[in-house]
Formats: sequence, structure tokens, C-alpha cells
Amino acid sequence: MTRETWATRVGFILAAVGSAVGLGNIWRFPWVTADNGGSAFLLVYLAVVLLVGVPGLLGEFVIGRRGKQSPVGALRNLSGSRSWGAWGVFYVGTAVALLSFYSVVGGWILRYFAESAVGIVGGSPAYFAAPGQYFGGAAAGVDALGFHLLFLGLTALVVVGGVRRGIELGTKVMMPAVLALLVGLAVWAGTRPGAADAYAFYLRFDPTTIRANLFDVLAPAAGQALFTLSLGAGTMITYASYIDEDRSLPFDGTVIAVLNTLVGVLAGLVVFPLLFSLGVDPAQTEPGPGALFVGLAGAFSQLPAGALVATVFFGVVVLAALSSSISMLEIPVSFLVDEYGVGRRRAVGLVAGTVVVTGSVCALDPTIAGVGVFGFVAGPLVDTLLTAGLAAALLFVGWVMGRDAVAEFREGAGRAAALATPWLLTVGVVLPIFLVFTLLTTFGVDARLGVWPTVLVSVLVGAVAFLGLRTERSVV
Ligand code: PHE
Repeated sequence: MTRETWATRVGFILAAVGSAVGLGNIWRFPWVTADNGGSAFLLVYLAVVLLVGVPGLLGEFVIGRRGKQSPVGALRNLSGSRSWGAWGVFYVGTAVALLSFYSVVGGWILRYFAESAVGIVGGSPAYFAAPGQYFGGAAAGVDALGFHLLFLGLTALVVVGGVRRGIELGTKVMMPAVLALLVGLAVWAGTRPGAADAYAFYLRFDPTTIRANLFDVLAPAAGQALFTLSLGAGTMITYASYIDEDRSLPFDGTVIAVLNTLVGVLAGLVVFPLLFSLGVDPAQTEPGPGALFVGLAGAFSQLPAGALVATVFFGVVVLAALSSSISMLEIPVSFLVDEYGVGRRRAVGLVAGTVVVTGSVCALDPTIAGVGVFGFVAGPLVDTLLTAGLAAALLFVGWVMGRDAVAEFREGAGRAAALATPWLLTVGVVLPIFLVFTLLTTFGVDARLGVWPTVLVSVLVGAVAFLGLRTERSVV
């Protein structure tokens, strides 16, 4: 059977933007930003997107378009080594972990959307009266379970349709809607009292704070950049494997990163004015998964036509989340289809069935050894998996593919072809060291050792990985 491909170039770009734009932009981004000092974080984050995100994205694209298989087959065939194929399974696992918590949050959103819509006709949404309490009830337990299953079902429905009739068609409808509605909401939010304070908090350029906080915000900025660009999970490898013409990867990658960043910034322009108009200072509020729901629900309840605004807002978030969750589901599905010749429908059933179980554990959120499962999966686990996943993919591009990667980068790249060699150096050397460094700071190693010794350790780890790869290559 011939492998499916995207019908159009725009279809591929929108599908990738759909994957990138999601809860990471609307739910995670405003709160990571607020938590890390607002504008002081924003600039560092933008720099990381440009310097790490875009080259990293191109790394995954190069593997995918050259390999034309799921991450497992692509890594194995391009290297001729079974151990790289085994590493590909790591991405399948990451995708399942991601989808397990993501579809729970997707379920919360679906519920708020439904409540808001009902509220338009029936007076006011149920969560208006006591937003904090309502969220507490909705977030975990049997209620969260039901909506998690519903969201997962919707995701599966799109993926069953296949690459063209499911993912491409779906994201072609969803993404323009998300963009248009967000612009509308941001313009409207700008008319709220308090908007000026919000802009000052969010957009003021303050070099002293940036310099003072640089190392503290580097890890959260990197984590956010990877998560929001869907990097390190094999998503972009998978999506690029469905490209059948040689179009400019640097161009497409830049468009995708710019659109994704735009949506994140726009989401901030909606969320912060709303919170400030209520007198909520995001820097003072307890951050965390509930913040968006509790803070915004409170803001909506104070507005004229609040139920309507809330319906539009949560509708946008549902679409954005769905176009991301389908990209997570597609990774294991493509693995089963490509490696074992399983039919798409059955593959979707198998993977979704697994996530029904793993996601339910996140939804019920038991505490194991003092740690809540949901918080652990959504936070440190996913951050670590994505960072390690991207670092390995980029080492693969730099040291296993090498010249092939340069050739693939150049294919269709036009004038940007000249960037191929500096790009290879960046992804093969600079970025893996940077990613190891952020991993170490996530685990607090820099606090114990100091920043520069941590940099040194990162370089050493990078060198060991490199030597490991040399032996791996000679086996080939
Ligand atoms: N980028 C998505 C978001 O911002 C999340 C995602 C991560 C999707 C990794 C796929 C892979 O919501």
C-alpha cells in the first residue's frame, strides 16, 4: 500500500501549525510568562524560539522528509542501525505520555465550553458562581474522566480519517478559525479597563531584570519553546514524513514558528487585560493548571455577555487543543501502520485504548509517593522527555546523517541553502549542549554546582554522547 502524503503545501504548514498551536500557547504560555516575570521572560523566550526552536524544528523536518517513515523506521533506515530504531520507540512512548495528560486538560476545556454555551441560554454558566470551587470539582475524579474520554474520542475521529481527509482537512478548518477569533478577542480585550497595566506588565522592555534573571528563566523558556513547537516528541518527524515534494524546509519552518509565536503572544493579549481588568495580578496569583480556568472564569463572570465571550474563548481553545492532540495520536498510529502493517482504524483503536487507561490515571490523579500523577506527567516528566528527545534527534542529524542532512536541508531551499552548514553545526553541537544544560538546571544542578561548572558538565555529557555515536556509526 502506498503511504499517504499531504495534498497541498499549505495543508502541511497548517497541520504543523495546528500541532504547535495548542494548550501550550493559550493555557501554559501566559502562566509561565507571568510566573517568570512577564516581559523579562518574553524576550528570552522569543530568543530561544528563534535560536533553538527554528533550527530544532528543521532538524526534525530533515529526519522526517528524508526517512519517509514513522520516527522508528526513519531513524533505523537512515542510520542502518537497529538501536536507533529502538530509540524511535522512545518517541512513541513520549507521545502516549503527552496525550495522557493533554486529553485530560482538553476534557476540562470541553466542559467549560459546554457550560458556557449552556449559560448563554440558561442565564449564567455554572462555574460563574464560585470559579475556584467549580474547578476543584471538575479537575479530577469521575467527572474529569468522562470529558477526557470525550476529547480523546474526538481526537481519534479525526485521526481515523487519515492524513488528507482527517488531519489536513481538520486543521485547514480549525486553524484559520482559531486565528480569526483570537485576533477578535485580543482587540476586544484591549478596550477593557486595566488593559494599559496589562500591556506594561507583559510587554515593557526592561534590560536590567532580563539580565538579572537570565539563568533562572532559561530552562522554563526552553521547556516552553519545545513544548509549544511540538519538538522532541517525534511529531514534526512524523508530519514531515508525509511531505512528497521538495519544498523549502527553512521557509516552512520559519512560517510555522512565526505563526505559533504570534498565537502565543495574542493569547497573552487576551488573557492579561482580562485579568488586570478584574484587579488580578498574575504575578501574585498561584500559578498552575487551574489558574487559567479560575482566573478567567472569574473575569468572564464580571463581563456583560460574559457567557458569550467565554463560549468563544473556550471554543478557540478546544479547536487549538484538538489540532495538537491529533498530532500526538498520529505518532504511535504511524508507528503501528508503518512497522506492523496494522490498518489505520485498528491502530487508532489500539492507541486510543491505551490512552483511555493511562489518561484515566491522570484524570483520577492519585498521589503516589507524595507526588500527584497529573502534575508529574504534565510537568517534569514531559519536560524531560521532550528535552532528551530533541537532543537525541539533533545529535542524530548532526553526527549520523551529517552530509545527508545538509543535502536534505538544501533540497528546495533556494537561497536559504547557504545556511545548511552553519545550521548543521548548530544542531549537532551547540543545541545538544544547550539542551543538556537546561536538563541539568531543571534538576537544580546549577544551584548546587554553580552555572559555569554546570556548563562544563553539559559539554562533557555532549562529548560522551558524541563518542557513543562514533562507535554506533562504526557498527553501521
Ligand atoms: N505544541 C502543543 C501545544 O502547544 C503540544 C505538543 C507537544 C504537541 C508535543 C505535540 C507534541 O499545545
